[in-house]
Formats: sequence, C-alpha cells, structure tokens
Amino acid sequence: MNMRTAEFETWVGRTLQQVEDALEQWVPSDAPAGLGEAMRYAVLGGGKRLRPLLVMATCEAVGGQPEAALRAACAVELIHAYSLVHDDMPCMDDDVLRRGKPTVHVQFGEAQAMLAGDAMQALAFEVLTPDGEQVPPALQARLCSLLARSAGHAGMAGGQAIDLASVGHPLDEPSLRDMHRRKTGLLLQASVLMGAACGETSPVTWAALADYGSAIGLAFQVVDDILDVTQDSEVLGKTAGKDQDANKPTFVSVLGLDAARRHAEELRDHAHQALAASGLSNAARLSMLADKVVERDS
Ligand code: IPE
Ligand code: IPE
Ligand code: MG
Ligand code: MG
Ligand code: MG
Repeated sequence: MNMRTAEFETWVGRTLQQVEDALEQWVPSDAPAGLGEAMRYAVLGGGKRLRPLLVMATCEAVGGQPEAALRAACAVELIHAYSLVHDDMPCMDDDVLRRGKPTVHVQFGEAQAMLAGDAMQALAFEVLTPDGEQVPPALQARLCSLLARSAGHAGMAGGQAIDLASVGHPLDEPSLRDMHRRKTGLLLQASVLMGAACGETSPVTWAALADYGSAIGLAFQVVDDILDVTQDSEVLGKTAGKDQDANKPTFVSVLGLDAARRHAEELRDHAHQALAASGLSNAARLSMLADKVVERDS
C-alpha cells in the first residue's frame, strides 16, 4: 500500500467511526412499540457508508463546518437506509437478505418495515435541524432542500417508480440512464453538494462538484447492476442475480457486461476531470472515492 492509499484508508476508518457513533446516538432505541428496534436494525452496523464519506470528504475539501457535515452525512445515510428497507419489501423487489442480515420486513413484519422507513425519512430531517446554535438556520434550510429534492418525487422515489414500471420492458439507453440517475444518482450527488454547502464555494467549484457527483452517482448504479450478475450473495450481503430473475432492465441487460464496465470507467474518468476543473487543491479523497465506486467488489 502506498502512502496516499494508507492515508486514505486511515481517514476512511476514522470517518466511518465518527458516523457510526453519531448514528448510534441519534437513531432512537425508545421509539414506541418496537419501532426503534426496527430502525436501529436497519441503520446501524452495516453498509459501506459511501454517501456519508462523500459528504465528509467534500466538506473537508471546501473547508466547511464539520458539525453540519456530520449531520448531513447521517441524514443522507438515513434516507438511503430507508430506501433500502422499502426497496426490499415484497411489494417492491421482495428481497430477504440485506447487509448480510434478514431484511427488515422479514425480521419485524411488513407494517413495521414500512413505518421504520417512514420514521427514518423524518429522522433525517430532524437530524438536519437541531435546536441551538450548532448549525446556522440558513444552512439547515439549504441542507434540507438539497436532501429533499434528491430523495423525493423527482429523485429517488420517482426513480423507484420508473424501476417498478419498467419490469419486463426493454428500456432504451437514455431512459435507463434517466431512471438510474433518479433512483440512485441524485442522492449520491446530493451527498457531495451537501458537503459543499457546509463551506464557501465559487460557482465554478459548485458546478464542478455537481458534475463529479452526477458522474459517480450514475457510475454507482452501473456497478450495482454489474455486481448483481458477477458477484455472489455472500460477498454482496444481498441476493445476487435478482435483476435478471425479476426481469429488470439494467446497464448489463441493455449494454452487455463489457460495455457496462467500460461505461463505469468512462464515468470515473469524467469524475476525475470534474475534480480537476473544480479548482480545489484538496480533492485527493474525492478522487479516491470515485475509484472506490467503480473498483468495489460489493
Ligand atoms: C445499494 O446501495 C442500493 C443502491 C442504491 C444501488 P449500497 O451499495 O450503497 O448499499 P449499502 O449502503 O452499502 O448497504
Ligand atoms: C435500489 O436499486 C435503488 C434504491 C433507491 C434503493 P436496487 O434495487 O438495484 O438496489 P439493490 O440491488 O436491491 O441494493
Ligand atoms: Mg430496486
Ligand atoms: Mg433491490
Ligand atoms: Mg441492484
């Protein structure tokens, strides 16, 4: 391992611990009637936490406020984890395995899974709007706006609706791209922009970071589609081979495996170019996170 990689891995370990400790503190165990247990099961002790890492790396790159960034990191992870709970339910992808454990509805029942997702979505915005002075009100509002717009009807939820409506329909590449950007890409892009919002950025830097986030956001779902056919369930911690079984259009089914891989690499190169255009002198971690998105094996 060279020094740059070693420094990066140390930063990843330290940041993951910080995020884990904050989630541990903010996801309640005492919500009524077992709801807290289901929420904590869904959020704690699992997942790659890529979105929080993007928030924290971007905040550091722009010299932003760490307290606000930690809240943004946890908020985006809460939205993501809620989207997984609902994505796995029988009315959606009907999956029994997630993050190496039985899915929330298998463990706690469908109604509790639905409510845990609902409560996690609300908790994300609770975390972003603390009482007191820690996060200035204008920044709270900005972070809520970025997160809500990436998660809602035009973003993740809208993309998930397209996903379900596309079962059994061959999509053309532009439509597939649009679905992937919405269901996955926008939340990753929002992670980057929430980190950026915690500091001061020029319009040029903001646009370059948006471009970076867009490229890795799409790349992330392209790689998810690839791993669904190339990796086994044990390594993924979720059931492999689901997309083909469910007859879902994916980058692999539409472009083929080799072209999907090439496309993910093109998107990574695009992300690197965007960072080069950002004017940021401190973007090495973002560059390495782009590599991680494409080179990951789970
Ligand atoms: C899986 O996301 C769902 C997609 C949006 C493709 P991740 O691969 O980030 O899942 P975790 O958080 O690591 O479990
Ligand atoms: C999920 O896409 C995107 C979400 C918004 C949760 P997938 O359905 O492909 O995610 P996995 O493969 O189940 O993690
Ligand atoms: Mg799905
Ligand atoms: Mg799924
Ligand atoms: Mg998938």
